[in-house]
Amino acid sequence: MSKQFDVVVIGGGPGGYIAAIRAAQLGFSTACIDAWSNDKGGPAPGGTCTNVGCIPSKALLQSSEHYEHAGHAFADHGIQVQGLGLDVAKMLGRKNTIVKQNNDGILFLFKKNKVTFFHGHGSFVKAADAAGYEIKVAGKTEETITGKHIILATGSNARALPGAAFDEATILSNDGALSIAEVPKKLGVIGAGVIGLEMGSVWRRLGAEVTVLEALPTFLGAVDEQIAKEAHKLFVKQGLSINLGVKIGEIVNGGSDVTVNYTDDKGAEHKAVFDKLIISIGRTPNTNGLNAEAVGLQLDERGFIAVDGDCKTNLANVWAVGDVVRGPMLAHKAEEEGVAVAERIAGQHGHVNFNTIPWVIYTSPEIAWVGRTEQQLKADGVAYKAGTFPFMANGRARALGDTSGMVKFLADATTDEILGVHIVGPMASELIAEAVVAMEFKASAEDIARICHAHPSLSEATKEAALAVDKRSLNF
Ligand code: FAD
Ligand code: NAI
Repeated sequence: MSKQFDVVVIGGGPGGYIAAIRAAQLGFSTACIDAWSNDKGGPAPGGTCTNVGCIPSKALLQSSEHYEHAGHAFADHGIQVQGLGLDVAKMLGRKNTIVKQNNDGILFLFKKNKVTFFHGHGSFVKAADAAGYEIKVAGKTEETITGKHIILATGSNARALPGAAFDEATILSNDGALSIAEVPKKLGVIGAGVIGLEMGSVWRRLGAEVTVLEALPTFLGAVDEQIAKEAHKLFVKQGLSINLGVKIGEIVNGGSDVTVNYTDDKGAEHKAVFDKLIISIGRTPNTNGLNAEAVGLQLDERGFIAVDGDCKTNLANVWAVGDVVRGPMLAHKAEEEGVAVAERIAGQHGHVNFNTIPWVIYTSPEIAWVGRTEQQLKADGVAYKAGTFPFMANGRARALGDTSGMVKFLADATTDEILGVHIVGPMASELIAEAVVAMEFKASAEDIARICHAHPSLSEATKEAALAVDKRSLNF
């Protein structure tokens, strides 16, 4: 007889592993199946985020930022660095160690919470019967387990450009972009989105000449225009060549280099030769190999698993969370959905507020936001007030030596409720948390303006931007 579980989670990324832990906390017998293997063939749970996403990219962003600071910024502090060198192998090794610590941490958490982990590929066998759904686990051995509830959290894969297959040696997805053994002289990046900017920043800081080719005529269209404009200016100043409105033509992988033919926004044709090319043009949901047809699992027109607002699929007791369903492809969104689904299975009222999911782009300066942009408010016909405060006028930012950017508040013109907060500047990833809390509690800009913030701290810029909504900032 197959092993029986109350809940079987397929996928051990942030959506899946967190759903499994929460389900186990709620008293369900829980299994989590994940296919990711490390270079020794062992289990490496944590999904894209842990293995080739959030964690390794932030490790390299940190290392490359230290290198850049040692090369330029330290001198301003009176610190002289001589014989500065770069050991890329060691940098990548550090990143790999951090990834492994996270993989091992998840295996430990499974043990601690009594989640049964299966290392292998999970797929449906047949439609549910009274015992639940039969799931085949194909790993080193093959076995079948049964789950009354199934949570699908199979994530996403990098989207390829037609005619430019990823070989992860010359044409790279996020996977290869995180493991380039030697700093390329010339690096091409197709797509000026989150991955393009983060990975482009890493290799530029380490010495590559980086050219970013973006199809859209606007830079970071989803970001508040004023913030995107400021970020664009700063990235160009740092040396990123950002080309908007391009049309990519033929891409020829020559093995040791790659040629990209493209037309620029004025219609001129170009032939650019790069040592490496990162293609970061978005991601596609991963439903391959689930044997979805066997159970009649419905996908939407874009290939995502179709779910309602509660993450329920068309099948009774089958749920789906994270990158494989609609909504932003963010680890914390996947986690929140995982928790909410486990709680719904337990009859509780799990909830994810899509209006207060923060976004962060971990460039330098960082870009972070929550809620609506000024252009969205205009399009929605909402009357609003705006207040901004530049880090240039913040004492802590001056002491840090990082005065780029600003904090911007958008509040309802009548009620003063905060509708959006947008930051480009130092530690924006941490500063945005205050805005998320404020918006969750439906705070007004005045609420933030009247809260005591520590001095000197970057968070004073948040308070000052809230004061600026009422045109009474004190330090600018
Ligand atoms: P995934 O993390 O993709 O996990 C899915 C797991 O399921 C994988 O381990 C996969 O092997 C496994 N799987 C798939 N099919 C099966 C099957 N049939 N059987 C068994 N296992 C299966 N988000 C942020 O919020 N912050 C960031 O800083 C950030 N940085 C990123 C940087 C990069 C370079 C990339 C590519 C992404 C980044 N993201 C970031 C996005 C984030 O990684 C994803 O939103 C997140 O990983 C989605 O989680 P998930 O659980 O839905 O899927
Ligand atoms: P993206 O959606 O952020 O950006 C893709 C960019 O490629 C867009 O600007 C798009 O206009 C452009 N593009 C699409 N087709 C093109 C073409 N043919 N030629 C030129 N440009 C083209 O996608 P990206 O960067 O691949 O990242 C995928 C997702 O991963 C992100 O949307 C995000 O959800 C997640 N992620 C999150 C991070 C974070 O939270 N810090 C970091 C990295 C990724």
